[in-house]
Amino acid sequence: MTTVSSITENASQALETAVQQDVERAIEDLMAWLPDSKEVSSDQRRGIIARYSAVLEGNFIYWMTGAYLAVSSEESRSIIIENLHEEVRDSHPRMLREFALAAHAIPTDHDAIAVHRDLTNVRLFVGRLSGVQILAMMAFFEGFIQKFMAYLADLAAAQGSAEFVYTDVHGVCDVAHTAGLFRALGAEMALNPAEPEENLLEGVNLLRTLIQTIVEPDSTQR
Ligand SMILES: [Fe+2]
Repeated sequence: MTTVSSITENASQALETAVQQDVERAIEDLMAWLPDSKEVSSDQRRGIIARYSAVLEGNFIYWMTGAYLAVSSEESRSIIIENLHEEVRDSHPRMLREFALAAHAIPTDHDAIAVHRDLTNVRLFVGRLSGVQILAMMAFFEGFIQKFMAYLADLAAAQGSAEFVYTDVHGVCDVAHTAGLFRALGAEMALNPAEPEENLLEGVNLLRTLIQTIVEPDSTQR
């Protein structure tokens, strides 16, 4: 029998699938947009690793914590806590610092300035603590990071580095993290259905702009 609640359930399931597909497409588009890793100059290689590091080292755990504070479903909370636990216990910021150090790409003040505007936009967005949108952004982030690791490792190798713990760990563990965050997104969307005027991809779009600036600092300046 078709009931009002089953219609609502079907509609929310369809929206959940649509958001997941949009996030996956955004990841694929961003990967396809990257310049060929063999064609980038040594200056660009250093810059990409340094700006990636400037953004990720101090912000990933902060934004995942923002996601934790923003969600209300128990399932989302437990998935995020597990993720944070791993980040802190295994000290992923330390892994990233060692990766950047070995690639001679510790961020400079210029690197921090290059990402400042787009990083600020993401920070302000996270501060609004909108659960579904932050989870969409973090699922996009994890999914992108996982696919980006081979590219980042190629850049580091071309810089003469042999330190690949960070890229090895994230190329593998983020597969499960991405799936977990999509599950969390579904749980949160079921509990807090989106308003029609809400742009569920707002955080995804802001983060995509930031990642494009990491790779090509001039690409997003207007
Ligand atoms: Fe990590």
